[in-house]
Amino acid sequence: MITKYTYGNPFQTDAVVQKLEVQNGNVPYFTVVKTEEQLQFEYTLENEEKVYGLGENVRGINKRGWIYKSCCADEPNHVEDRTSLYASHNFLVLDGGKEQFGVFFDYPGIITFDVGYTHLNELKITLSEPDADVYVMTGESILDIVKQFRQLIGRSYIPPKWAFGYQQSRWGYMNEDDIREVVKGHREKKIPLESIYMDIDYMERFKDFTVNQERFPDFPEFVKEMKAQHIHLVPIIDAGVKVEEGYDVYEEGIEKGYFCKKENGEYFVAGVWPGKVHFPDVLNKEAREWFGNKYQVLLDQGIEGFWNDMNEPSIFFAQDRMDETFDKIAELKDKNLDLDTFQQFTGLVGSLANNTDDFKKFYHNVDGKMMRHDKVHNLFGYNMTRAAGEAFERLSPEKRILMFSRSSYIGMHRYGGIWTGDNKSWWNHLLLNLRMMPSLNMVGILYTGADIGGFGADATEDLVMRWIQLAMFSPLMRNHSAMGTRKQEVYRFDHVEEFRKIINIRYGLLAYIYSEYMKSALNSEMYFKPLSFVYTDDEFASQVEDQLLVGDSLMIAPVYNQNAKGRYVYLPEEMAMLRFRGVDDYDTEILPAGHHYVEAGLFEMLVFVRPDKILVLTDGGEYADEVDCDHVKALAFVKTKAEYVWYEDDGMGKDYENPDNYGRITIEKGGNCVYTGSREKKIEVKLL
Ligand code: GLC
Repeated sequence: MITKYTYGNPFQTDAVVQKLEVQNGNVPYFTVVKTEEQLQFEYTLENEEKVYGLGENVRGINKRGWIYKSCCADEPNHVEDRTSLYASHNFLVLDGGKEQFGVFFDYPGIITFDVGYTHLNELKITLSEPDADVYVMTGESILDIVKQFRQLIGRSYIPPKWAFGYQQSRWGYMNEDDIREVVKGHREKKIPLESIYMDIDYMERFKDFTVNQERFPDFPEFVKEMKAQHIHLVPIIDAGVKVEEGYDVYEEGIEKGYFCKKENGEYFVAGVWPGKVHFPDVLNKEAREWFGNKYQVLLDQGIEGFWNDMNEPSIFFAQDRMDETFDKIAELKDKNLDLDTFQQFTGLVGSLANNTDDFKKFYHNVDGKMMRHDKVHNLFGYNMTRAAGEAFERLSPEKRILMFSRSSYIGMHRYGGIWTGDNKSWWNHLLLNLRMMPSLNMVGILYTGADIGGFGADATEDLVMRWIQLAMFSPLMRNHSAMGTRKQEVYRFDHVEEFRKIINIRYGLLAYIYSEYMKSALNSEMYFKPLSFVYTDDEFASQVEDQLLVGDSLMIAPVYNQNAKGRYVYLPEEMAMLRFRGVDDYDTEILPAGHHYVEAGLFEMLVFVRPDKILVLTDGGEYADEVDCDHVKALAFVKTKAEYVWYEDDGMGKDYENPDNYGRITIEKGGNCVYTGSREKKIEVKLL
């Protein structure tokens, strides 16, 4: 059951799609403190109570013991003492206390979630204004609560099937030849590859919706050349539009008044990659439509996918603050240069980038009403991506377009996925990646993954190998790194054959991963689940934050420590373990419930099949279209009778509700297999 409570006069974020009657009175469970300035929700946590949620953020699956902030930030240091990353996902589920419930604070400004930071047993949520819609959910289980919430916020974005392939990116592919070299590096060694990402350098002076003519003299032709090799090119689009006379997007935006303005009516100027930019006012319906239509320029050249970046929005500097800073520094220069002036100087310079005070300096025109940005800050990335998503519905109604964003708010999950931003080539970011996945699924973000190998810092071969073994299961499987760091395309390392074999497993799993993704999206379910959400009576399950359930049949337990040759694994029930080295190179073992130390050498990946469940495995391929899903092996761990509901479609169109998309495999103890479905299948049974 979901109940809606309204405080004050909240901004309509369009996070939810169901219209509910407002319940009178205060939300249950919490003590509500309302003042003129803010709204506070206080709650006493029981010792054993768990707090799940908050989507993209630092730390564990259980969020207890830290203070988190919803304030979308361009934060490249994903370390434990940060409070926000790029997103704002104000949804929590409380479990193990007097009552189990979920709560969503639909408020687009800054919120702090003190989850037992100030006092171990106190949860205090502070909204920086007294206006919000708050939804409270109860249900039979955590999964039921999440499902109700997901139905409230609407169906998750569905990408084309090719977007589940292995993708390669790097900030620094400058021109056609750089891209050709990377494609060749993979294809020559038969390492599967689906797409290449085009970072900001493909543009003409970082101007959105342009292609640099010197670097890509005939772009549509180049797109074709890549397609002939089954490679999709995925260009980046940044939030800031370069201020440059003669640039059509800039000129049009000025003419139509579609950029964010200051209080005095002048356009707000920020500095990002292109130098000076204006922000398109994506909270304004017309401006959003206008910006969205711009993607057509690239769609027309054969592009089928995009990533939206810098949309917190990131502000390297605000022009006005920069001017003031120069003036203040000039004054300092006249003083004696002592420690104090040095500190003032570094303080001034250090506070230029992403200064939250700048959020108070510009406005959005929402239905004729000027909204100061800080009050709706967390909606910017959401609405930039919504601009694209709404446009794709108009421009490409029949065909899915790949879209994911860096910044997000709940509601954006209907228009695109996210990647988890600028992580680092650190082993603990591999673990952070794992922990973030289920929290993101709770808020409807299913198409997601982290930069494999880490974005910042130098990656090592073993880190990339282990990361691929985790990212094997994330819907977005993309290797990405920053300019200036060590190159980490897998063919550059020593063990190319092992990388080929391991990435090929992704293609072996494609039928399963796609089927599970689609069922999760269509049924408002989680694709990645913590053990504790499923094994609700198992007291130890909630202690496990380094294993996940993936879809209906599998549990994963990736190795995330350097030099480890295996790991401890907890099995809440008997399972069949598969130790994969390649799609047809694996050994199997049935393990009883309990704690185990399991060996997994660097090139080995552990997968566990649950009892009475089935894993469909294909022979793999070098790209998604090559995978033959009609000849599969069904790896079944049969205790009584194993079953699998298999979703398939053409991977491009939008005929999701067609009952022909579903098939069912049933395997009995002796191995007798029945397939019902509309497709012709050749299924080879392998009993585990
Ligand atoms: C941002 C993005 C990163 C990208 C870089 C250059 O840091 O998060 O993925 O490579 O900008 O565009």
